[in-house]
Amino acid sequence: MPFPEQRPRRLRRTERLRALVRETRVTPANLIYPLFVVPGAKKRTEIGSLPGCFHVSADEAAREAREVESLGLAGVILFGLPAHKDPVGTEGYTDDGVVPEAVRAIRAECRDLLVMTDVCLCEYTSHGHCGVVDGEDVRNDATIELLARMAVAHAKAGAHIVAPSDMMDGRVRAIRRALDGNGFTDVTLLSYAAKYASAFYGPFREAADSTPQFGDRRTYQMDPANAREALKEVALDLEEGADMVIVKPALSYLDVIHRVRERFDVPVAAYNVSGEYAMVKAAAQKGWVDEQRMATEILTSIRRAGADIILTYHAKDFARWTK
Ligand code: PBG
Repeated sequence: MPFPEQRPRRLRRTERLRALVRETRVTPANLIYPLFVVPGAKKRTEIGSLPGCFHVSADEAAREAREVESLGLAGVILFGLPAHKDPVGTEGYTDDGVVPEAVRAIRAECRDLLVMTDVCLCEYTSHGHCGVVDGEDVRNDATIELLARMAVAHAKAGAHIVAPSDMMDGRVRAIRRALDGNGFTDVTLLSYAAKYASAFYGPFREAADSTPQFGDRRTYQMDPANAREALKEVALDLEEGADMVIVKPALSYLDVIHRVRERFDVPVAAYNVSGEYAMVKAAAQKGWVDEQRMATEILTSIRRAGADIILTYHAKDFARWTK
């Protein structure tokens, strides 16, 4: 039935009407806010590459988490910057490391905010790789043992959800077993299942001080050209015991989010990464784009592609815009 019988504009006449027929919604309850935790107390310094985001000590992280909770956001994901880095990332899996300290501080202050931790060695290793190295080689099986210890340290401190982002093979099973073996059968495992070797992580590497000192991450993170391989990675992680999966980055990988959503019946998360945030912030600071409209459109597109959950540096801004 063509024009004049069909007039799609009838459904766009007013904001009430548009809201009535809107297919996709983003709410603060879908969003997770990343926090970068540093050693010490009363520390709060803005991250140059992520305007509006801060390096915070555990006490300040707890303050920030209270704000995140009061904004109605789902939770926080913690990244740690240790006092000292070494080749095997020791401070990443000690019970008194920066992340366990922050988890305890946040859990003491917040009632039901979800506390999620990133499980990866790259912030803790002196060479900046996501695993232990042997020459130029990032060793898979030796690494997953350490990741399992890190996940248990986070769980002991009170993390609700652990999220391995290293892309070693078999780490989901190793982590699940270690959690269960230590009595943490209820801790949720959110795996970064399809994580690409991406230029969009640039600003994060400054924030986490985790740029590899040699080589790059292409022997473990995925080739941006591959989508079918993402389905294989997700299938393997689910088989190994992941409860939910992440596709990362988000914006250049909307097709991947969509395909994962269509194929698997588990919650799908997408990481709206640092480079995606920084592009919007930088252009907005120049007055070239409207930050609120652009960020909202990006988050909506990620939800429309099929993500249930979005990890985003825009989480607090978005919650304020929609208040
Ligand atoms: C750690 C990790 C990275 C990000 C999340 N976890 C960096 C990387 O793999 O190099 C990137 C997050 C972002 O860019 O916002 N492996």
